[in-house]
Amino acid sequence: MKVLGLETSCDETGLAIFDSELLAAGKSGLLGQVLYSQIELHATYGGVVPELASRDHIRKLVPLLDELLTQCNISKEDIDAVAFTKGPGLIGALMTGALFGRSLAYGLDVPAIGIHHMEGHLLSPLLGPNPPKFPFVSLLVSGGHTLLVAAHGIGDYEILGESIDDAAGECFDKAAKMLGLPYPGGPNVARLAENGDPSKYELPRPMLHRGLDFSFSGMKTAVHNLIKDTPGSDTDEQVRADIAASFQHAVVDTLVKKCVKALKQTGMKQLVIAGGVSANLHLRQTLEQELAKIQATVHYAPLELCTDNGAMIAYAGYQRLQAGQSDGLAVSCVPRWTISDLPALT
Ligand code: KG4
Ligand code: ZN
Repeated sequence: MKVLGLETSCDETGLAIFDSELLAAGKSGLLGQVLYSQIELHATYGGVVPELASRDHIRKLVPLLDELLTQCNISKEDIDAVAFTKGPGLIGALMTGALFGRSLAYGLDVPAIGIHHMEGHLLSPLLGPNPPKFPFVSLLVSGGHTLLVAAHGIGDYEILGESIDDAAGECFDKAAKMLGLPYPGGPNVARLAENGDPSKYELPRPMLHRGLDFSFSGMKTAVHNLIKDTPGSDTDEQVRADIAASFQHAVVDTLVKKCVKALKQTGMKQLVIAGGVSANLHLRQTLEQELAKIQATVHYAPLELCTDNGAMIAYAGYQRLQAGQSDGLAVSCVPRWTISDLPALT
């Protein structure tokens, strides 16, 4: 079964084909994928402009599908089903992929299914070389979400904790902006932090001793004050690197401590990290070290599948279609959608 996955919830147009026959042959199941990032389009504005994002998805969907089919050496008639991101995300951007996907499926007379973007992220490590087995704890860290989830099976998600304000990725993006680094901030802060001293400046670890929820909005003020009060924060590369490293360390330390707490609380021994911030190498390395101490393991997707992509949507779609689920002809997108509201596979 070949499932076309479409991701258009924000500023990436991602398309991929998941082929279950490849999976049966012991491979990852990913037949091919294409990704177009709108980074340059939004960079001038320092963040995503929703209307520009929607218009650009419309421009890119058809040529990207042609490119994908050529890459996979198949024709569109070989597609057995279409999965698209139904939410959460920017409503206009979601509608482009959902309408395109639903119409294509109608034209081909194959089933279509709308997928929860964060479920796509959550399942993406299952496409990697070291896949976890249910049940596991999942840390979902993206530009819009910071969630700790107990994943008992596909669709059976229990939220253990979440951010009460800013998401971890958003916090990286805002710190980057204050340091004068271009959008998107996460990878740029991580790059600057490489030559910095993470213990140079003390930054807060918000809500560390309060359950499994997170709060990152105070970090903004702390970074703002640190930059304002530190001579050379705009000119001296070493000072800037030390600020970036100290900031990154504070966020990572907070995330790691909460993950350890969640593993202890649930008694689970596997942690899955997914979403854009899971590409952060300092986070990965710190988790490897800390989880080894409690005989737990950490699992993540290959780097190119950490940030938004079509492969995770195709894979989640395949799993749900296999279980007999599909959507009707009406298209409805859900810009705000809690992952624990998803139906479990029976
Ligand atoms: O999952 P994603 O691609 O899109 C959303 O669903 O939001 O995540 C994007 C977020 C951005 O905030 C970006 O700055 C952050 O992930 N990010 C990183 C890294 N790569 C991407 N944050 C820290 N370190 C990275 N290496
Ligand atoms: Zn995402």
